[in-house]
Amino acid sequence: MRPAISVLGMGRMGSALAHALIKAGYPTTVWNRTAAKAAPLAAAGAEVAASVRDAVAASEVVIVNVSDYQATESLLRNGTVAAALKGKLVIELTSGTPDGAREAQAWAERHGLRYLDGAILATPDYIGTEAGTLLVSGPANVFEHSRAALGALGGNVQFIGEDPGLANALDSAVLALMWGALFGGLQAIAVARAETIDLGVLAKQWAATAPVIDGLVSDLIKRSAAGRYAADGETLSSVSPHYGAFHHLVDLMKARGIDRTITDGYEAVFRRAIDAGHLHDDFASLSQFMGQPA
Ligand SMILES: NC(=O)c1ccc[n+]([C@@H]2O[C@H](COP(=O)([O-])OP(=O)(O)OC[C@H]3O[C@@H](n4cnc5c(N)ncnc54)[C@H](OP(=O)(O)O)[C@@H]3O)[C@@H](O)[C@H]2O)c1
Repeated sequence: MRPAISVLGMGRMGSALAHALIKAGYPTTVWNRTAAKAAPLAAAGAEVAASVRDAVAASEVVIVNVSDYQATESLLRNGTVAAALKGKLVIELTSGTPDGAREAQAWAERHGLRYLDGAILATPDYIGTEAGTLLVSGPANVFEHSRAALGALGGNVQFIGEDPGLANALDSAVLALMWGALFGGLQAIAVARAETIDLGVLAKQWAATAPVIDGLVSDLIKRSAAGRYAADGETLSSVSPHYGAFHHLVDLMKARGIDRTITDGYEAVFRRAIDAGHLHDDFASLSQFMGQPA
């Protein structure tokens, strides 16, 4: 029998989570600070709780998805709610930091409840689909016990490890990749516009170049994992040609007066590596200069 699940937070993501649980046949209770946002869930078959305490009392499993961990704390960390949670499982799907998750796990332990921390690597339209990705960390046996319910939220649920901070940590690492591409996109748009290149032409080039960049990033991660920083027969590109091409970009940006906040950061990392003698090493050698501040 499917366990009853309560979901706290009916924003864009929380609503998608609750809809997916209802669709998968879980008895679902929802609560939201702004009550009106729970109405579509009631229409879809959820019970609507009048308070956080009522929502917590209604189910064995409580999923939280609000804006940040401070909001979660304001909902759960008071005497009546903490007492109602005793012996239950809280799955925190709000985005946060690794240390925030570790602190929440310690609080949960002190108050006699089980805790899993998850990070959602998907937009709400992916929730409940095969392609929905959720990273989860916490006690392995608790994860195993909840695997089916988590599977209702996305087809790609991954257990990352027992340290509750790991899901958020991996989430941040993946977001760093994402913003690298998005901010790179912003720079490309600025350069294209300054040189009157049609953005449709840029879009076509992105489609053609994305697999090449994908291969470079995979290679970078693989070589960094193995500490293979010296150039060898499999090196795709050493630091030197990257730095040369990078300076063509910087010169163009200077000439057209394009903001160089981001490229100034790239320059600093290139310089640290080159000054340390890595000009002719594999590009992956730069990863040694990103782990700590300059
Ligand atoms: N949307 C995405 O694509 C996406 C993807 C991955 C992860 N996430 C994560 O999912 C979480 C929710 O995102 P969202 O897109 O659903 O945001 P959202 O639509 O802005 O919803 C935010 C939710 O948090 C609630 N909330 C905020 N402060 C609160 C407080 N002090 N007390 C009680 N409730 C509070 C809001 O309640 P009210 O309705 O009363 O304001 C609302 O239910 C975030 O941590 C986000 O990083 C979102």
